[in-house]
Amino acid sequence: MRGETRLVRLLLGGLLCATVAAGCANSGQAHKTKRPNPYLTPDTRHSIPLSSSAGKEHRAVMLQHLETIQVIVNALVEEDYELAQGLTELHLGFFQHRQAMAHQEPEKFPSAYHDLAMAHHEAAEELARIIPTKDLKQILPSLNNVLKACVACHLEYKVRDN
Ligand code: HEC
Repeated sequence: MRGETRLVRLLLGGLLCATVAAGCANSGQAHKTKRPNPYLTPDTRHSIPLSSSAGKEHRAVMLQHLETIQVIVNALVEEDYELAQGLTELHLGFFQHRQAMAHQEPEKFPSAYHDLAMAHHEAAEELARIIPTKDLKQILPSLNNVLKACVACHLEYKVRDN
């Protein structure tokens, strides 16, 4: 009898482990892009040596990016798809890139940084194309791709402390 109980326990334990392992494997897949947080582990980000004023300009654009994302999500919540599309195009698309670069020091950014910036603007343009479908099942993955592009760059680069 005792032996049986142990066997059952072993089996249940094994099942639990398998379930947990499967769960972890799944969440691992969901966070495929996740890398160590630079503030909790050694900071391996590349530093961009901007002047103090260009650095400020860069940060101002970044803060605006975050605000824009919030306003876009707000417009989606309110089902104002036209506004959401306009904001995405104007503030996160290629137009915004040209504006931002005109006030910064583009030659100081490595080409891999420009690639990440382009990928981000491309993701935004794609989102702007998808928004008129008014289909959240298509819009959300597209918005997620924009956010992934933000995160991808943040994991690779920092602006040198001025
Ligand atoms: C191509 C690179 C790149 C992309 C794309 C990018 N960022 Fe950034 N962002 C940076 C860098 C570099 C910093 C400075 C980080 C540092 O020095 O610690 C920064 C800083 C920030 C900050 C902090 C600003 C401050 O006051 O210091 C915010 C907020 C931010 N980004 C939001 C966003 C959002 C939202 C997106 C996407 C819509 C985005 N960023 C896309 C490179 C990028």
